[in-house]
Amino acid sequence: MDRPDYNDATYDYTKYWNGRSYENNSETYALAKLLPSKGVRILDAGGGFGRLIPTYKDKFTDIVILDKSIKILSQAEDRAKELKVTVTTFVGDVYNLSEVGQEAFDCVVMVRIAHHLDDLAKALAEVYKVLKPGGVFIFEFANKLHIKSVVKHLIKMDNGYFSHEPISVASKNVMFFNFHPKYVSGLLEQAGFKVTKKLSVSNFRSPFLKRYIPEGLLNMTENLAQEPLARFNFGPSLFYRCVKASA
Ligand SMILES: C[S@@+](CC[C@H](N)C(=O)[O-])C[C@H]1O[C@@H](n2cnc3c(N)ncnc32)[C@H](O)[C@@H]1O
Repeated sequence: MDRPDYNDATYDYTKYWNGRSYENNSETYALAKLLPSKGVRILDAGGGFGRLIPTYKDKFTDIVILDKSIKILSQAEDRAKELKVTVTTFVGDVYNLSEVGQEAFDCVVMVRIAHHLDDLAKALAEVYKVLKPGGVFIFEFANKLHIKSVVKHLIKMDNGYFSHEPISVASKNVMFFNFHPKYVSGLLEQAGFKVTKKLSVSNFRSPFLKRYIPEGLLNMTENLAQEPLARFNFGPSLFYRCVKASA
């Protein structure tokens, strides 16, 4: 199975977002609920082309975007210029995140990158190192217990599916891990984090609903549903707000 190559000249991740304003809005609502109201330094780890800059630009004075792909970081720089925001970009790997500094950030955001990681524990240990004590970590992962998967595997009577182990679902021959919420909570705790809030996100991501329900209504319902649905691990994407406990 391949790893996705965001440096590939023929692949433009910005285009993935065409027709996905519902999902983008869903993530924006989640971050508005989870981000600290103010801080100095934020690290967007695996931040890609800076899609999430608008969610944190007014709360932090020093924004760092780290990514493995030099190509996508140059898109992040262009986007930051358009938004008139100063960002620092850093070519790096989340497995060696502490290259950007130890106990240096008030907040770390990691969205839509865990599904690319086959050693999540290592990445979380690195996040712990770069955060200041008491710092906030906002972590998104693809949810193995998403309602659609649960129904599908119950119908197939595939009990093995419900184990806590991550599962790699291939998309176009590219590795894509879905994680069990209990597996993630266990790893976060082991790494030294305390989970303080959970949200279920992109709950109504369905071509049918997106087609027949006005987007404004879908967005409003999504915004209201994120917190109550979190206890059921309902949506395809879960966002956890974690605090770095003192060592
Ligand atoms: C699906 S994109 C998400 C980008 C951004 N977080 C967002 O939500 O728009 C995944 C990003 O993770 C980066 N990435 C994947 N593995 C990485 C790693 N080990 N270290 C750093 N970045 C990585 C990719 O280059 C890509 O930009």
